[in-house]
Amino acid sequence: MPFIIAIDGPAASGKGTIARALSAHFGFHHLDTGLLYRATGAKGGDPVLAAQSLCADDLTGSGLRSAEAGQAASRIAAIPEVRAALVDFQHRFAAQEPGAVLDGRDIGTVICPHAQVKLYVVASDRVRAERRAAELGADPAEMLVQLQERDRRDSERAAAPLRPADDAVVLDTSTLSVDQAIALAIETVRKAR
Ligand code: C5P
Repeated sequence: MPFIIAIDGPAASGKGTIARALSAHFGFHHLDTGLLYRATGAKGGDPVLAAQSLCADDLTGSGLRSAEAGQAASRIAAIPEVRAALVDFQHRFAAQEPGAVLDGRDIGTVICPHAQVKLYVVASDRVRAERRAAELGADPAEMLVQLQERDRRDSERAAAPLRPADDAVVLDTSTLSVDQAIALAIETVRKAR
């Protein structure tokens, strides 16, 4: 049975960095599930049809990491039929041997509730805004407003809202270096293997 690591948390909490590091360390496949929603939003047109016809090529678009693509993603991610259309892809990805790391908002709660390890990665609003601003070359104050708006939408929606699974290990990266956060995550996975 493949080993599954589910990583959830709000935008710019560090979950992507931790997911990539865990996948490299343990030799597992990695899926950034936010890309599925970003690519769906970027296709335009009917979001349900866009999600149903999503293919691997759509995930490589150059503008997908922008703040605008993130906002568009969080709007269409609230539509239950969009989420339903993306479930199979995620389940198939998670079934790969020897294991998979999936990061997103609902991996531990909805997509892979039986994951052997669930991490819920958080960081203070200020730290997250500064990180995202540095990444995108944007203004931290503007990033803060955008992140808070996206978190609110992601947490308050009825379909698969952002929240920690009951059995998730919460990892607060606010005061941790990248290396410290990765070391803690590796330790958590090691204990569960
Ligand atoms: O993680 P990322 O910032 O790329 O996600 C973009 C948006 O996609 C999130 O704000 C959220 O609305 C949506 N998303 C989701 N469920 C996931 C991953 C992302 O609803 N598993």
